[in-house]
Parts: sequence; structure tokens; C-alpha cells
Amino acid sequence: MSIQKRKSDHLRIAVNNKIEHKESAGFEDVILEYDALPEMNLSEVNLKTLFLGHDFEVPLMISAITGGTKEAKKINLTIASACESFGIGFGLGSQRAMLEHKNLKDTFYVRDVAPNIFLAANIGIAQLSEYPIEDIANMVDKIEADALAIHLNALQEAVQPEGDKDFEKALENIERICKHLKKPVYIKEVGHGISYKTARKLDALPIKAIDVQGLGGTSWAAIEHFRGSKTANPYWNFGIPTVASILCCKEASDKPIIASGGIRHGLDAVKGLILGADLSGIALPALKAAVKGQKNLHSFLDNFLEEMKIGFLLTGSKNLTELRKTKYAIVGRTKEIVDKLT
Ligand SMILES: Cc1cc2nc3c(=O)[nH]c(=O)nc-3n(C[C@H](O)[C@H](O)[C@H](O)COP(=O)(O)O)c2cc1C
Repeated sequence: MSIQKRKSDHLRIAVNNKIEHKESAGFEDVILEYDALPEMNLSEVNLKTLFLGHDFEVPLMISAITGGTKEAKKINLTIASACESFGIGFGLGSQRAMLEHKNLKDTFYVRDVAPNIFLAANIGIAQLSEYPIEDIANMVDKIEADALAIHLNALQEAVQPEGDKDFEKALENIERICKHLKKPVYIKEVGHGISYKTARKLDALPIKAIDVQGLGGTSWAAIEHFRGSKTANPYWNFGIPTVASILCCKEASDKPIIASGGIRHGLDAVKGLILGADLSGIALPALKAAVKGQKNLHSFLDNFLEEMKIGFLLTGSKNLTELRKTKYAIVGRTKEIVDKLT
């Protein structure tokens, strides 16, 4: 099956089917200290931040989704131009298709509509041993990205009939690309999370950040199940829930963290930041809003940002520095997971 056909299948299945984990990301287990006397005005909330040397108006990214097809191009342009308007970051989908067919660059190139955003190129861990390092560096340059996100998707590949099953030289390959590339490299999962064990391995590498992409939102086992995989179903809810993943990564490493996977509203994003993440990331809700058009995505993001600001207000925080001082308790299932897995 061609990569383009697979990419179209992923988009169609993600938009039209229930492909989320049936277990929670764990945000209900994060209890924040509510300040009923915030002594500030909601309009004072300042969401600005700096991530990997880049200014953000809001500590938020639309995580990697697509590329390689005509439909993907439209979605990428819609999302990128919204990101430019809101001052948030954007991750392009896997550029494997572009490595195979150079003419597909066009479906990933968004700088015409988004000259200033933090833009992440994207490639899968398995591709690092399949393509020359120069081609990958070239792929990052061609789309004028600010960083390269390498996605770890062992679960997805393992249950995908045509998937890559060899991850033998993964760490060595990441190190090699970090040394070769002039741009920062960060690691992301795709919806099944980064454990303490994985984060310890990543901590030893010259990567610049870890994007947890934990369990609680999009499940790749679910998507591959709908594509006909016979082994995916048992793994539908496999992985590290997002809140536990953030806490495991914080324990394992001092690298900047992105809270992502199952972030479904502004309060989830705020909780991720309070737990120590530098940014939050969303994929599926942004995709669903974007396919309905630019206006729809704008109103989704407007509402999301307002929800974030309310979270700042209710913790008495005018900015990120103040927000990070918010006290919180981790209770229930998430506490049990973190106690056992760190
Ligand atoms: C249709 C679709 C395609 C995706 N394609 C990619 C991809 O090419 N590269 C990647 O790193 N992640 C990809 N992802 C994973 C997302 O970046 C994200 O990790 C995951 O969806 C979890 O976030 P969510 O729960 O907010 O959707 C994709 C997600 C969706 C829904």
C-alpha cells in the first residue's frame, strides 16, 4: 500500500470513527489548589512563553497530524495559518512520503501562511535507519522548520501489518541525527506515552525536549484496528496515561516536556503546565475542527485559550511563572501508576 493511501486512511478513520483510548489521561486525578480570592482581572493573564528559543503567545502546539496528500495540504495550511494568528506552534505530520517523493514537499510547506510560528518537521524512528542522514536534514531545511520531531511509534508499527518491526539501533540513530542536524531535535510518542524507563534512555541523548503524547486521547491501536489489523485490538488502551507520563518524565529527566495526548480542553492544558510541562499539545480536536474550515478552527482555539485563561485566574496566576507555583495533589489511579512506575 502506498504511503499516501495510508495517510488518507488515517485521516478518514480518525475523523469518522471513535478512535480514542477508553481509559483516561488522568487529569481528573490532578487536584489543583483553587484560589477563590485571586485578586486579579482575567484580562491580565499573560500566556506568553519561550520554548527552544522561540517566542510563543500561548504555551500550546498543534501536534503532528498529516502531509503527503492534497487533502493533507489543505489541512496543514488551515492549521498553520491559525497557529500564526494565535502565536502557537505546529508540528507537521510524518515527512516519510516527502523522502520518497520529493514533489510532495508542497503538501508540507506552510511558511507562506505561517512565516513566524515555531514549526516542527517530523519523521518516524524507523525511518532513521532507512534513509541517508543528509536526506533527512534536507527534508527539515526544505520546509524551513525550527526543529525536528522524531516520533516513537513502536506500538503502531508492531500492530500494523506493513509496519517496521526493527528498532534495534534506535538510540544510536537518534544520537547520530542530533549531531548532524543544525536544528534542535525532540522526541515525541504518538498517543501511548513515554514511560520512566524510556525517558531515562532519552535523558542520555542530546535531544532538546520530550513530547509525552500519552494515553487518554488518540489510540493508534484503535486506528490500525479500523484499518483491519488483526493484532491491534488488545492494545487499544495500552500505554502510559498522559498525567503519569508527564510525572515519570519529570522524575527521569530535566529536559523540557510537552504535555500531550488526550488534552481535550484548556484546563487539561493548564494542569499539564502546572505539573511541569513547558507546552501542551493537541492533535485530534484540532484536526476535527480544521476539517470543518478555518473559521471553525479559530473558534475552537478562541474557546480553548479562554479556558486556559480561566485556569490561570482560578489559581491566582497572572503568568506561567506564577502558575507553576500552584499546589496540586495527585490522587487515585494516577498516584498508584506513578508510585509503581518511577
Ligand atoms: C490522523 C492523525 C495522524 C497523525 N499522524 C502523525 C504523524 O504523522 N507523526 C506524528 O508524530 N504523530 C502523528 N499523530 C499523533 C499526534 O501527533 C498525537 O501524538 C496523538 O494524536 C495524540 O494526541 P491527541 O490525543 O490530542 O490526538 C497523528 C494523529 C492523528 C489523529
